[in-house]
Amino acid sequence: LSNLLVDSFGRVHNYVRLSITDRCNLGCQYCRPGNKAEYTPQMDLLTFDEMVAIVNALAEMGVTKVRITGGEPLLRPRLEELVAKLGLITGIKRIGLTTNGMLLASKARALRQAGLTDVNISLDSLLPERYARITRGGDLGRVLDAIEACFEAGFETLKLNVVLMQGVNDDEVESFLRLTLNYPLRIRFIEYMPIGVQAEGWKAGYMPLEGIMAQCAEKGWNARRVEPSGGLSNPSYCGTADDSGPARYYRISGAAGQFGLISPVSDHFCMACNRLRITADGYVKPCLYWNDEWDLKPFIGNDELLRQVFRQSLEAKPQRHEMLVQPSCKSSQHAMHRQMSRIGG
Ligand code: GTP
Ligand code: 5AD
Repeated sequence: LSNLLVDSFGRVHNYVRLSITDRCNLGCQYCRPGNKAEYTPQMDLLTFDEMVAIVNALAEMGVTKVRITGGEPLLRPRLEELVAKLGLITGIKRIGLTTNGMLLASKARALRQAGLTDVNISLDSLLPERYARITRGGDLGRVLDAIEACFEAGFETLKLNVVLMQGVNDDEVESFLRLTLNYPLRIRFIEYMPIGVQAEGWKAGYMPLEGIMAQCAEKGWNARRVEPSGGLSNPSYCGTADDSGPARYYRISGAAGQFGLISPVSDHFCMACNRLRITADGYVKPCLYWNDEWDLKPFIGNDELLRQVFRQSLEAKPQRHEMLVQPSCKSSQHAMHRQMSRIGG
């Protein structure tokens, strides 16, 4: 037990989010506000072998799941080789990828064969022009091709992430919900988080997710909560063996897929937090919404020292984050050193 990753509030950490690059081929408005692109020099990025060494040490401390994030992780060449290497680590049971999908279609099969188990794709609009505007140049057709390619490659379900923003894409909730009727997708609506965003700009776009249930009711759609534990025994369940995570899931009666609500702002889920983050330049970040980070690079190769750093970072992990910005509040939490695009969500 002493070897597990437990923080000072008793939370056990079994999930690591591994950012493998802070570069992105898109510049989503909510993720890279101001389109300020700051990148770690190539030579300071962790190599795949360094990542494997870090995850190996984490696996010895009870981590069972790795999610590969970015920037855009598919910008790293030969990603499938990293996936295969992570899959060889004793104790790692699930390997996920969070991507914008631009470069995914041609890689889906190789990634699946290498052992990738879960794919989450960011997709904030189903309208080509709007999609291009939000992402600063993204091509919706390529994302749709990637989704198709994932199903063809054998992924049984995919999660789609929709950051819901007032006046930007909130008129598309129904279109996204309709997608769940026919496809085994899990569409997750996500509250817009004020990260690296000036409080005022964020406030104009922020909206809580409550209205989504009301929209289902208006359409006469009966949306039932999918309980994490009951899910797998349900033959029509479209999830994977993993149903941890910040989303609460619902299924519209008769639908092939589900929708999920992720509400970090209005209803934070910090008490159930089980995650650590590793940045592309080799720091451990115990909380998404907190600046403190610990450099791992000097200790790679010495598991005992790595373990000590993980423990230190967890001892300091805050109990919860505070995202609702009061007009008078100039909380240091909003002055994040890293913008979201450099953390990977
Ligand atoms: P899986 O359970 O592995 O599918 O993970 P996930 O749903 O957390 O992964 P994904 O990368 O798709 O993230 C979905 C959304 O949840 C993104 O907007 C993330 O920024 C947000 N998110 C993930 N983890 C945290 C967290 O620890 N705190 C907060 N506030 N938001 C998070
Ligand atoms: N608020 C909410 N979610 C965000 N993401 C990036 N920036 C934000 C933000 N400001 C999410 C995207 C992506 C994931 C990696 O992080 O939805 O899917």
